[in-house]
Parts: sequence; structure tokens; C-alpha cells
Amino acid sequence: MPLVGRRKSLRRWHHSGDERAKPPRPALTIRKIATVGHPVLRQRAREVTPEELASVATQQLIDDLIETMRDANGAGIAANQVHEPVRVAVIEVDSNARYPYKPPIPLTVLVNPVLEPIDDELVEINEGCLSVPNLRGNVMRHVNVRARWLDRDGHEHDEVKRGLTAGTFQHECDHLDGRLFLDRVADTTTLTTWEQFERHHRDAFVARITEFVRRVGS
Ligand code: NI
Repeated sequence: MPLVGRRKSLRRWHHSGDERAKPPRPALTIRKIATVGHPVLRQRAREVTPEELASVATQQLIDDLIETMRDANGAGIAANQVHEPVRVAVIEVDSNARYPYKPPIPLTVLVNPVLEPIDDELVEINEGCLSVPNLRGNVMRHVNVRARWLDRDGHEHDEVKRGLTAGTFQHECDHLDGRLFLDRVADTTTLTTWEQFERHHRDAFVARITEFVRRVGS
């Protein structure tokens, strides 16, 4: 992938440019994803300090999260899903194979994110999760949320997210509070395997959610 190639060559340049300022990081690693039942998914992940965020270990974790998310075709992944109970998550949607109806979200690194619903509007979204293999189900999500977070350089962001994008942000922030989408499935008859979703539920859901995305704009 061209993006990865560019990141790698940048890193080499930093490395050869100033050995002391930029210690070499190990190669990108695809981390093992914890699955439902693992206690790390049920812990509240802890805040990251500014010093920790700047550390090689945390920057490497962020690189690995991005790589692991992309490898698994996820729309996002939280650090505790790779056994690191810290408040870091990454999100990216770009013609996603698992969720082709999701509007694009540029790569976003969330550190210590805080979400607040802006109003009471809710939408029912069919979700899946890399930590819940082969299961999908319907959950209610806020349509409009205020999201505040730090990026990987420690810069503050304060933005409004709407629609399916807001849903993705809520799903990832739930992970950091030890919560899975399964906990929010009010109607367990909506639970399906991915195969049965494709066969029996996909068309109706995609028709409804496409109309919703058109109305809300994301
Ligand atoms: Ni998930």
C-alpha cells in the first residue's frame, strides 16, 4: 500500500537525520484482537498523560492500531481491543468492505475522547465489532454528538459528528468504557451472523440507512 510505504520512508528519513531525537521504532505490527469474554474488553481504559502520548511506545501503539484496523477491514479499533487498556482509538472509513454503506471518515486518532449527545435524536444502526466475531445486531445511537479529543500530536479537537459517523465514534468510545455493542442490543431477535445478515436483512437495512445518511449528511 502506497500510504504505508510513505510512512515507512518518512521514518527512515527521521532516523538517519537525527539518531538521538528520533529513536527508531520497530516495524508496524498487526496486533492480536481480544474477543468477547476477554476481561480487558470490560475494563474502563485509563486516560493517557501528555508524556505518555509523546512516548515511543504510545506512538507505536497508534501505528499498530491503524495497521490492525486496516488489516481486519474495521471501521475503527480501540486500544483495549489489542490488550492495551488506555484511552486511545482510531477510526477510518474508506469504501469499507465490512460496511460499504458507511460514508467515508478520514483517519482519525482519538486520545482521551469525550462524547456528549447534543439532543435526543436517536437512530437504530446495525453494528458489528472486530471483538465480536461473526455477529451483528441493532443498537440505538445518538444522531448528533459533540466530540472532544486529542490527536496523536496532543492537539485538541472539538467537533460535532452526525449520523453513522457519530455512531462509529460512539461505538469506539464505548469500548474505552468497557462496553460492547452487544450490551446495547435491546431487541436480541436482531442478532444475526454476517451470512444471515447478508441473506435476510442487508437490503432492508441498507435502504433505510442510505435514506438516513442522505437526510443527515453523514
Ligand atoms: Ni468494536
